[in-house]
This record gives sequence, C-alpha cells and structure tokens, in this order.
Amino acid sequence: MSGTLAIIGGTGLTELPGLTISVAHDIQTPFGAPSAPVLEGELNGLRVLFIARHGHPHKIPPHLVNYRANLWALQKLYATDVIAVNAVGGISKNMKPSTLVSPAQIIDYSFGRETTIFDGEFAPLSNIDFSFPYTEALRVQLLKSAATVQEKVINGGVYGVTQGPRLETAAEIFRMERDGCDIAGMTGMPEACLARELKLNFASLALVVNAAAGKGAAAITLKQIDDNLATGMQRVRLILSQLVQDYYLN
Ligand code: HPA
Repeated sequence: MSGTLAIIGGTGLTELPGLTISVAHDIQTPFGAPSAPVLEGELNGLRVLFIARHGHPHKIPPHLVNYRANLWALQKLYATDVIAVNAVGGISKNMKPSTLVSPAQIIDYSFGRETTIFDGEFAPLSNIDFSFPYTEALRVQLLKSAATVQEKVINGGVYGVTQGPRLETAAEIFRMERDGCDIAGMTGMPEACLARELKLNFASLALVVNAAAGKGAAAITLKQIDDNLATGMQRVRLILSQLVQDYYLN
C-alpha cells in the first residue's frame, strides 16, 4: 500500500512502545482540539502517526471524544489509512475475552455525538455511501499481518456502538444480539463514518476484554477488563508492528 498509516489507540493503548517520536503535532482544527497531540514518528524505522483517542493520560470518556478533530488532524498530517484499536465486550459465543476481531459491520446505538463534517457550516451537506463501513483492503492487510505473527484475528462481525460510559444492561445486550451484534463497544462511531467522509481508509482491530452484560458467569469487573487489556494490547502491538512493515514494504 502507499500512503501514510495512522493508528488511533484506545483504552489500554495510550502509547505505542517502540514508536520513536520525532514530532508531537498540536493541531487546531475547525472543530477544536483533538484528544491529544498527534505523534509522528517511526516504528521499526517506518513513518507512522499515532493519536490516543481518550487523551494521554486516559481521561476523555467515549461520548466526549472529539472524533471530528481527531480524524481531521490525522488527515491534515497526510494520513491515508487509519487503524482504530477498540476495547469491546463479547456478545457472540466466539467472542470470548481476549479474542481479537476486525469487524466488518456496525450498528450505531450512540446518540448526541457530532457525526459529520458535512453540516453546512464547515462543509456543504453531502451523503456518503456507508454500506460497508470499513475498508476491505485494509482489513485484509491487517488480517494478513496478524497471521504473519501467528495471532488469530476473527475476520468480520458486527460492532454495536453504545453510548457509555456505563456498560449495558443484560436486556440491552440481548436486544443487540437479536439485532445481529457480535461485540459491543463505545468508540466505533462516529469515528468510522467521519473517516469515510474524509476519504480515509479505515479498519478496526478490536480486543474483547469482557463478556458483555448477561453473557458471563458473573458481573463484569474492572479488574477483569484491565487484566485482559494488559495481555491483549501486547498482542495488538505485535500485530501493528508487523502491519507497519507490511504496509510500507510490500
Ligand atoms: N460494552 C461496551 N463497551 C465496552 C465493553 C462492553 O461490555 N467492554 C469494553 N468496552
């Protein structure tokens, strides 16, 4: 692929170890400030951009993330391809804690977020095709790179995006399951549709950190989430490191 790769780090990935930072860009956008400076640097000697979605240190809740500013800032720094890392709850049987998945579809249950740059003020009204919210070629590349480092990433699945920051009720999760959702998370949207509006290729690497509400044997604990994040994000880093190489060298 040719272009510039950017990574949006989620919960558990506020930094990218191995990234040699050359510049921290404080970008102002028409939508205000991004969650954090965009870090430009090298991973294995190859250029990559990185932004911490929830700020660094982690402090911005999912519904208050300035998604428009984050995506705009990445584009301003010439990003062409964006990998979003998401921590999620598992709904389907095969989405057990510590599973990695690159979803192919989205159902958006979030509300009250700024979901477009085409609002008539910053850019004229326009509609995007969003039938397939993720960029297939980038998803395929991500899956290939994961296979190279012997990490299993489930190909596809429906990401149900909830408002948060509270976790869902069991009834909400059962409704989402009936709707066809495989995983539940709070940050998948409007990130994906803004990326599409900005013509950025976009894929998600999601880590299941807990069984969604009503799907596990016991209540969801923060300790369980933190433990799964710690081990899972090591694997995410390994995959991203391989992806950076494959992205630029193939
Ligand atoms: N639901 C929504 N978002 C999440 C979850 C969950 O169970 N776990 C981590 N992020």
